[in-house]
Amino acid sequence: MLEHDTAAPRPTRVWDLPTRLFHWSLVALVVFSAITGEFAEDLGTDYLERHMLSGYAVLALLLFRLIWGFIGNRHARFASFLRGPRAVLAYFSALRGRGAAAMHAGHNPLGGWSVAAMLGVLLVQVGSGLFLSDDDLDVHAPLARHVANRTIDLLHEVHETSFKLLLALIVIHLAAIAYYRFAKGDNLVRPMLSGDKMLAGVEPARGGAWWLGALVLALTAGAVWYLVNRV
Ligand code: HEM
Ligand code: HEM
Repeated sequence: MLEHDTAAPRPTRVWDLPTRLFHWSLVALVVFSAITGEFAEDLGTDYLERHMLSGYAVLALLLFRLIWGFIGNRHARFASFLRGPRAVLAYFSALRGRGAAAMHAGHNPLGGWSVAAMLGVLLVQVGSGLFLSDDDLDVHAPLARHVANRTIDLLHEVHETSFKLLLALIVIHLAAIAYYRFAKGDNLVRPMLSGDKMLAGVEPARGGAWWLGALVLALTAGAVWYLVNRV
């Protein structure tokens, strides 16, 4: 939502608690997964096992976020931030000017698609990981026995390529946040911590209760447990 109101800015709820916890847990787990994956050969079997464990946690978080995109608060919902090409182009040209483009309550139309891209690439990363096998370390991901060696090799390539894409998206993500901070004077990180943005005349976003988030996460964690242990 673009903000034109002249009322005084006040702290306004934008990100619900589950979205914020999702974000910072995802950051920690992706960093851990990236390091343990990248150095698996040197670190050995234990770390590859931990790599898979943290990958399962990432999967549970991603499934949580997909559901939360329909039942979270207004700004967590996909419908509010996945906008058509016209909105994206309009935002892009406004961004080069001053003012209006700077202050969006939730994700702006450009950021919205970068969020979708990160979630999509992470799903591919985790999805391909579930089928991998490392014969040297004798570690086999839970779904590896369901597919042929040829497919495992292919998915290994997918796992490596999606990791490169993921790193590129993370670099863009951090560069965009720095751009808003230093070129636009807009601190996006603080609201991702506190939940609130200084906005004038915008209704605080309701919904997105912590207990609903906890319930959804319990369900998605259960689904991942089932996938890993029973399929
Ligand atoms: C965000 C999640 C993940 C990230 C960032 C990630 C990243 C990586 C990276 C960078 C490698 C090294 C690739 C190479 O050069 O060979 C790797 C290897 C591996 N990953 Fe993941 N991964 C993730 C999730 C998973 C999951 C969920 C599983 C399985 C349950 C998994 C299983 C493996 C295995 C078995 C290898 C070793 C493959 C080999 O050495 O042959 N990963 N991962
Ligand atoms: C592994 C690295 C990271 C990944 C995979 C990642 C992923 C994401 C995702 C998926 C979202 C969308 C949140 C949602 O709607 O659920 C997001 C938003 C956000 N992230 Fe990250 N993030 C990473 C690192 C960081 C870091 C290090 C910071 C802080 C410096 C940060 C700051 C933010 C902020 C401020 C937003 C909200 C942007 C907005 O206002 O539109 N992220 N990130």
